[in-house]
Amino acid sequence: MSRLDTMIRRMTAQRAGLAWAKQALGAAETGVPGDIVEVGLGAGRTYDYMREHFPDRKIWVIERVVEAHPDYHPPAELLLLGEAEDGLAKLAGADLALVSYDLGVGDPVGDPALAAHFAPAMIACLRKGGGLIVSTQPLPDHPELTAISQDEAGTIGRVFVYRR
Ligand SMILES: C[S@@+](CC[C@H](N)C(=O)[O-])C[C@H]1O[C@@H](n2cnc3c(N)ncnc32)[C@H](O)[C@@H]1O
Repeated sequence: MSRLDTMIRRMTAQRAGLAWAKQALGAAETGVPGDIVEVGLGAGRTYDYMREHFPDRKIWVIERVVEAHPDYHPPAELLLLGEAEDGLAKLAGADLALVSYDLGVGDPVGDPALAAHFAPAMIACLRKGGGLIVSTQPLPDHPELTAISQDEAGTIGRVFVYRR
């Protein structure tokens, strides 16, 4: 599969995973409460989707170098500029409703290993009993995480959804 097709497949699955998360969480007031975080701003594509679809929630952003167009920058008070390790540590215990994880450079070995490394820190940020992770990498089995099937989430192939 070409890099272009791989990218289209990933983005289609990301959008499906985030759309599934939106309906699973419901509104912040009446559904699963909590802020959300984008881990990896990049060009701001998924961040912009989240702004549009989760207007009633604060969206934190973790990014080591902000290079997106200014239209896609988060407000300064919600930007955790620096390493994901530090940003996730700041959000530990925040009872987030959603972690969107999108670090990776297309390295088939390094990318899943990095996601596995960050999995415990992502779980520590999440609300027990409903918080979701939408990840572009599979996460290792964890007693506090239930994997949502890719059939259910509509994320076949490239995106992995988990509930704490
Ligand atoms: C794949 S891109 C994110 C794409 C983005 N979600 C989008 O839809 O446009 C990954 C981003 O994560 C950032 N990044 C990678 N490793 C990181 C780390 N350890 N800590 C913080 N940011 C990191 C990179 O600078 C890059 O901007």
